[in-house]
Amino acid sequence: MDSFEWNKVFGAFLAMAFLVLGVTFLSDGLFSSHSPEKPGFEIAGGTAAVAATAAPTEAEVESVNALLAEADLAAGEKAAKKCVACHNFVEGAPNKVGPNLYGIVNRAIASSDGFGYSNALKAYATDKVWSYDELNGFLYKPKAHVKGTSMGFAGLKKTPERAAMIAYLRSLAATPAPLP
Ligand code: HEC
Repeated sequence: MDSFEWNKVFGAFLAMAFLVLGVTFLSDGLFSSHSPEKPGFEIAGGTAAVAATAAPTEAEVESVNALLAEADLAAGEKAAKKCVACHNFVEGAPNKVGPNLYGIVNRAIASSDGFGYSNALKAYATDKVWSYDELNGFLYKPKAHVKGTSMGFAGLKKTPERAAMIAYLRSLAATPAPLP
């Protein structure tokens, strides 16, 4: 065969190759493009949607324990502005609408002298102290943590803010409680 014929053979071969490629490509596009119907993704999306709408239970309140050592006390003092209408933070200062919070970490629950606690908090208090975990749960959503509490406050939902708040509360003591 001369080179002219070789070109024809080669050309035919190329054309066939392109045809095969093209068909593969097309059928991929037509029939396989729907294969990523990934049921996994849909389930994941569904789960996320459920998680976003369901109210977090107590067990799901994110712990602040690991954040306390590094927490920003200034941010905690700022967060405390949300409490001062009802609480004093100064040692020996009177109770207001809410009890004085000086030295609250590890203090017995419902134990500020002369404060009229709700029956709900008194019943909840049995032998419990305001540990870091108790404060974390209560401050996340008071009315969920202690059903029937008279503390009319929605809660601190942001974990870093709650951590700063609790670290600030910890600092309000002659001898701050040991870190968890
Ligand atoms: C609208 C008023 C109000 C606000 C705002 C408020 N509290 Fe209270 N708080 C109360 C009342 C009232 C109680 C007593 C609850 C009971 O007896 O059920 C209380 C109780 C508490 C207790 C338990 C004290 C104890 O002696 O057992 C803690 C801790 C506490 N509050 C922390 C806070 C913090 C921290 C903030 C701000 C982030 C805050 N509260 C905001 C009214 C308030």
